[in-house]
Amino acid sequence: MSQYAAYDPDAQRVGARHGTECVRPARPEDAAAIARISAEREGLDEDEIRPRVLGELTADGMGTEHHVFVAEVDRQVVGYGRIRDLTHADHGLPEVLREGWYLTGVVVAPEFRRRSLGAALTRARIEWVRARATEVHFVTNLRNHTSIDLHAAFGFEQIACEFEYPRAGLPLGAGAAFRLTLPD
Ligand SMILES: CC(C)(COP(=O)(O)OP(=O)(O)OC[C@H]1O[C@@H](n2cnc3c(N)ncnc32)[C@H](O)[C@@H]1OP(=O)(O)O)[C@@H](O)C(=O)NCCC(=O)NCCS
Repeated sequence: MSQYAAYDPDAQRVGARHGTECVRPARPEDAAAIARISAEREGLDEDEIRPRVLGELTADGMGTEHHVFVAEVDRQVVGYGRIRDLTHADHGLPEVLREGWYLTGVVVAPEFRRRSLGAALTRARIEWVRARATEVHFVTNLRNHTSIDLHAAFGFEQIACEFEYPRAGLPLGAGAAFRLTLPD
């Protein structure tokens, strides 16, 4: 299975909402659900990922230097999105990119896609950054057209593509960085 959603801008949105949906900050007890969604996407073992996710959710700096939001349907976690304050030294951010707040990944379980949950997770993270900074970025593979369209609707604009970012799995020219300015 591809790590990206099949790109289909003409696909019908799923009209009927099923169940009660909400987006909220993640809690430590969400680690298993986040690990399951992440493992399915990356083809990895969720038992290996769960301790890492739990460590992330309980680490110092959760809610200040990094954050995670989850999307729920009927109280079941079906998606998540991360935010991190990235630096060149600590996170391997390419020198050509400005240090600061980055949306560092949003994933919705395949059976819950196209119900606006990815957009809701992105909106919640942007609003969280808005209270702290005047701009927010994200980096993605240029092949991930779904991600690019999702963020473009919020006003993100491409600012760079001539970089390599090994920690994000991006060789030279494979990725692009996008910025959204957040006026007060
Ligand atoms: C990207 C992802 C999170 C989107 O989640 P989603 O809940 O399906 O997205 P939404 O329903 O909120 O859609 C918001 C916008 O994204 C775009 N979009 C979403 N899915 C799309 C698809 N399959 N093809 C084309 N555009 C798509 C559309 O512009 C859509 O706006 P519209 O509803 O006005 O058409 C989801 O496809 C996913 O988990 N993909 C795999 C992980 C990934 O690539 N994440 C991004 C980089 S880390």
